Amino acid sequence: MVALTDVQIRELNGDDATEKSAIVTLVNRCYRGGGNWTTEKGIVGGPRITPQRLDECLCEPEMTVLVALLDGRIIGCIKTGVTDATVVGALDEPAGYFGMFAVHPDCSGRGIGNMLLSAAESHCKNSGMSVMMADVLHVRKDIIAYYNRKGYELVPNMSRPAQQVLKGAGEEILLDMEVNFLILRKPLV
Ligand SMILES: CC(C)(COP(=O)(O)OP(=O)(O)OC[C@H]1O[C@@H](n2cnc3c(N)ncnc32)[C@H](O)[C@@H]1OP(=O)(O)O)[C@@H](O)C(=O)NCCC(=O)NCCS
Repeated sequence: MVALTDVQIRELNGDDATEKSAIVTLVNRCYRGGGNWTTEKGIVGGPRITPQRLDECLCEPEMTVLVALLDGRIIGCIKTGVTDATVVGALDEPAGYFGMFAVHPDCSGRGIGNMLLSAAESHCKNSGMSVMMADVLHVRKDIIAYYNRKGYELVPNMSRPAQQVLKGAGEEILLDMEVNFLILRKPLV
């Protein structure tokens, strides 16, 4: 059983190839492999992240990846930092962001996701952000309900076709219907 007191959260070492490889494996397994209480399995196909895309993420200004470690092993991660309009749409205020949010299925459902989300919010608040934003596929009702419980609300009239956003990344929508990204927003008080 995982004890939350044994879980450590810190920034990913972007110079460590082993850590970066662990993140790529973890994120693809969690998002697309099933096994967690909420996933994108059956909704989106293809890799959620590649080594090249992770390197690009790490080069984005003011963006970081926080990792959760248990006994020195990476078991979770969340990407966070200052976002811009290309990611979440028109902004009238500087906003923090989270994404690439994953906890290994063996450790899921024990509070580690909550720890990572709180750490991302604290990181953005400490960087001077007063709001937090994220994007989510409209069909993911279970995780939207979770984000609602954590204080996130859907921004009205902000929706983008998922295939447009995913285009070129080797990802594809598997559902035979239009799937859209919605934007979530939470004031950081
Ligand atoms: C989303 C994810 C990171 C959450 O991590 P986690 O370690 O499972 O999260 P926690 O254990 O902290 O639980 C978070 C919430 O999930 C709820 N939860 C746990 N197990 C659940 C289940 N079987 N069904 C529904 N909700 C559940 C918890 O009650 C908690 O909500 P609460 O704090 O309001 O009570 C993880 O499930 C995951 O990697 N999913 C695949 C990737 C993904 O979908 N990322 C998000 C993309 S938007």
